[in-house]
Amino acid sequence: MAKGFYISKTLGILGVVLGVAAVCTIIALSVVYSQEKNKNAGSSAAATTSHTTSPTTTAATTLDQSEPWNQYRLPTTLVPESYRVKLRPYLTPNEQGLYIFQGKSTVRFTCKEATDVIIIHSKQLNYTLTQGHMVVLRGVGDAQPPEIDRTELVELTQYLVVHLKGTLAEGSLYEMDSEFEGELADDLAGFYRSEYTEGNVKKVLATTQMQAADARKSFPCFDEPSMKAQFNITLIHPKDLTALSNMLPKSPSVSFSEDPDWNITEFESTPVMSTYLLAFIVCEFSYVDSRSPNDVLIRIWARPSAIAEGHGVYALNVTGPILNFFASHYNTSYPLDKSDQVALPDFNAGAMENWGLVTYRESALLFDLLSSSISNKERVVTVIAHELAHQWFGNLVTVAWWNDLWLNEGFASYVEYLGADYAEPSWNLKDLIVLNDLYSVMAVDALASSHPLTCPADEVNTPAQISEMFDTITYNKGASVLRMLSNFLTEDLFKQGLASYLHAFAYQSSTYLDLWKHLQEAVDNQTAIQLPGTISNIMDRWILQMGFPIITVDTKTGKISQEHFLLDPDSNVTRPSDFNYLWIVPISSIRNGVQQEDYWLQGEAQTQNELFKTADDEWVLLNLNVTGYYQVNYDEDNWRKIQTQLQTDLTAIPVINRAQVIYEGFNLANARRIPVTLALNNTLFLIGEQEYMPWQAALSSLRYFELMFDRTEVYGPMKSYLRKQVTPLFNHFQSTTSNWTQRPESLMDQYNEINAISTACSNGVTECEDLVSALFNQWMEDPDNNPIHPNLRATVYCKAIALGGKKEWDFAWEQFLNATLVNEADKLRTGLACSNEIWILNRYLSYTLNPDLIRKQDATSTITSIASNVVGQTLAWEFVQSNWRKLFLDYGSGSFSFSNLIRGVTRRFSTEYELQQLEQFQEDNMDIGFGSGTRALEQALEKTKSNIKWVQDNKEFVLNWFTENSE
Ligand SMILES: *[C@@H]1O[C@H](CO)[C@@H](O)[C@H](O)[C@H]1NC(C)=O
Ligand SMILES: *[C@@H]1O[C@H](CO)[C@@H](O)[C@H](O)[C@H]1NC(C)=O
Ligand SMILES: *[C@@H]1O[C@H](CO)[C@@H](O)[C@H](O)[C@H]1NC(C)=O
Ligand SMILES: *[C@@H]1O[C@H](CO)[C@@H](O)[C@H](O)[C@H]1NC(C)=O
Ligand SMILES: [Zn+2]
Repeated sequence: MAKGFYISKTLGILGVVLGVAAVCTIIALSVVYSQEKNKNAGSSAAATTSHTTSPTTTAATTLDQSEPWNQYRLPTTLVPESYRVKLRPYLTPNEQGLYIFQGKSTVRFTCKEATDVIIIHSKQLNYTLTQGHMVVLRGVGDAQPPEIDRTELVELTQYLVVHLKGTLAEGSLYEMDSEFEGELADDLAGFYRSEYTEGNVKKVLATTQMQAADARKSFPCFDEPSMKAQFNITLIHPKDLTALSNMLPKSPSVSFSEDPDWNITEFESTPVMSTYLLAFIVCEFSYVDSRSPNDVLIRIWARPSAIAEGHGVYALNVTGPILNFFASHYNTSYPLDKSDQVALPDFNAGAMENWGLVTYRESALLFDLLSSSISNKERVVTVIAHELAHQWFGNLVTVAWWNDLWLNEGFASYVEYLGADYAEPSWNLKDLIVLNDLYSVMAVDALASSHPLTCPADEVNTPAQISEMFDTITYNKGASVLRMLSNFLTEDLFKQGLASYLHAFAYQSSTYLDLWKHLQEAVDNQTAIQLPGTISNIMDRWILQMGFPIITVDTKTGKISQEHFLLDPDSNVTRPSDFNYLWIVPISSIRNGVQQEDYWLQGEAQTQNELFKTADDEWVLLNLNVTGYYQVNYDEDNWRKIQTQLQTDLTAIPVINRAQVIYEGFNLANARRIPVTLALNNTLFLIGEQEYMPWQAALSSLRYFELMFDRTEVYGPMKSYLRKQVTPLFNHFQSTTSNWTQRPESLMDQYNEINAISTACSNGVTECEDLVSALFNQWMEDPDNNPIHPNLRATVYCKAIALGGKKEWDFAWEQFLNATLVNEADKLRTGLACSNEIWILNRYLSYTLNPDLIRKQDATSTITSIASNVVGQTLAWEFVQSNWRKLFLDYGSGSFSFSNLIRGVTRRFSTEYELQQLEQFQEDNMDIGFGSGTRALEQALEKTKSNIKWVQDNKEFVLNWFTENSE
């Protein structure tokens, strides 16, 4: 799954500088899942209706743990072989106002071990009784089924339990039928409904999200990833709607004999697969299609108007090539006849890799040439690559249990860059993994509260525990660590081991140890690559212990040492590690611009090597292209020599390492390992830097300085310094884009053009101010023809509104009310928060309480946008304090955005006075409470304290430094 995660990717790095900020990122990332979790926990399981009756539902309180149906993991006595499932979703409500689906299913299973009980997952389904039982049991072939004693539903463990009078015989096959009804709720889980309007007409569609544990909510099934089986799916659906599933229909959809308003579509049998990868959709979407070079049918589905406007074309252009790329990367052909990609208006995760029927948020699949920016395009190509990577890794070969989710998601998160790079070879997408995944997760993994990538299978049992596995460690650290592995093995060797693993476990499940075994075989079959231990020896330390090392080099002696890196050096690590927080570390390095031989730090805390010892006129720099999952510190002399090199000829250091120097420098300063002025000195070379990655590393790190100091005397010199540094970059883009009339060629240049304008305007470069005002005025004069390129809109709107007054604001507000595209409306809504007029911002704040003006779902993000504007900071905080009761009651305590709200309005807090205010706020509102913001409030208190300390420790140095280095 690509989860909501992708949204936060670009945000991810922003929160990186201080540890506490990082915690917030991870919480925001896991929100999607906790929401689903809450919903699941809140809803009651199936009970009885007038015509469908369930005899007993055991209450959760009387559970006897020794009974197998009270345990979350299925017993291994029965193994499914295939299912026949017929589902009929009703897209209009019944007399009770309920949307439902009806279903019939048959499961054929083998008995592996004699047993007198059948335990199968079932969640929120009401069963029709046959002779008093919820199921009918048959033997296949000679097997004689025992009689059913009774059937029951166990709510807590989500089972349908069939107690038998005799036993099922080992080695025999049985079939079990059931008929049931479930709610087609709008809960985004299992078989659910999604509503949207097209024109002014409300439309309803039925779709699924089974991962991780909701297939059981659409039909009774052995709902664990290693319980693979074959599925024969049939959908009964309104005759004018399309029915889709993992496979193509066996034959064209035909009229349903029992009701002429309905059609029936029967799909080809699936290959042997996991339940969490099933998908069913009934909708009125249209599509564009093509055939991949290997003759796989590729279709992009979306709302008919989106398809008509060509929004599916970009996805169609890249899907075929990416599918082909992976087939050759894995040395395994795509196992199905078709690959559908469907854009859903309502979808919680970013995307879901259902085999053959991948589902996406609209923003992750659709691309509109007129209004989408280059980053929208990047997102589309990387999400498609991520999901297609799973079609083999995850779908064909599946991890046996959710404790190994990191292998599945980390792998897809790594190779998505390879797949996307294949589709857009000129974009250098592979480099971005360093900022988007590696550094963003290090911010979390450097906290004492982090956790290892994998954990024992028996520590992950309940659906809630499974949901918790979908976090940034799983995705981003998984990706970073696999990238490191692929790098030290070389990609060719990695691919060899991978293909052998996929062939060995096709249509089965495995654990990460199986992958290690096949990679080891690949290593053993050659002599070019020598490792200091087995794959397992090396990798265990990265998988089984949390965190990562900081490598410290003393270039006078060549001494090199490693230590567990913690952002807060005062924090206590309570989690023990079998490896004492020492790693086996692949170390690449360059000396004065020349690459040296690779070196292995073999798990020792400290050693020495000539590779790291330098003469007076030499420097070394470790971790070429940041392929290793670690950070590096040097003696001050070496830092200074690196800085000199960067300021005289920065091309001697690869672009990713220029970003590394800046990014890791600030990290080390925050961890109090180097002085803050040394970290600031690392940014001096930016005056000659035109590349995106170093600038992005600097801007995201300096955002914290801005928040801490933009209300103090430090800000003047800081702005002056940034103005000096960014002016050449601004001029560079001005000349290379023919005075801003064309966009730069490459993706990164397009991103950096945005950085240049945004930084120049924020820090008072007058040409920049003239530029954005002129563009915005041009638009105001001819509102039907927006002359601002989609890439630049967010920045230009914000800066022009900040420079303008009532006229600009009112115009943008008018455009916001009229905007039909969500992404356009969002850019305007955020831009409106950039005004410098207090009365305008106060009026805007009041709009957030009027759902006719600002939709409820957007209220908190609007308030936090206003708070991120230094002029709006105090206003937003006062607004939240005086309206907490109303916000809390009207906007519900179940909504996650309360934590964002609290975090957003307190981000600048760095004085004792603000700390007191925050404590007062907590006290004053105890009676109402803080709901989902409770934890964020605690963190805000802690963060404020750490900000106060940081400002105390650093302000004077920072002020002097900026003063000395300003224009
Ligand atoms: C599903 O279909 C396959 C043939 O495609 C058949 O062999 C299998 O028995 C079917 N399973 C069930 C439970 O009907
Ligand atoms: C299932 O039964 C319960 C209890 O009678 C009822 O509240 C619920 O609406 C039923 N669900 C469906 C989908 O019929
Ligand atoms: C429904 O079935 C009829 C044949 O009975 C067919 O002509 C029609 O195309 C089907 N509808 C869909 C949406 O497939
Ligand atoms: C899709 O590919 C076609 C043919 O190469 C190209 O003309 C078109 O511009 C592409 N569309 C998008 C949105 O990339
Ligand atoms: Zn995924």
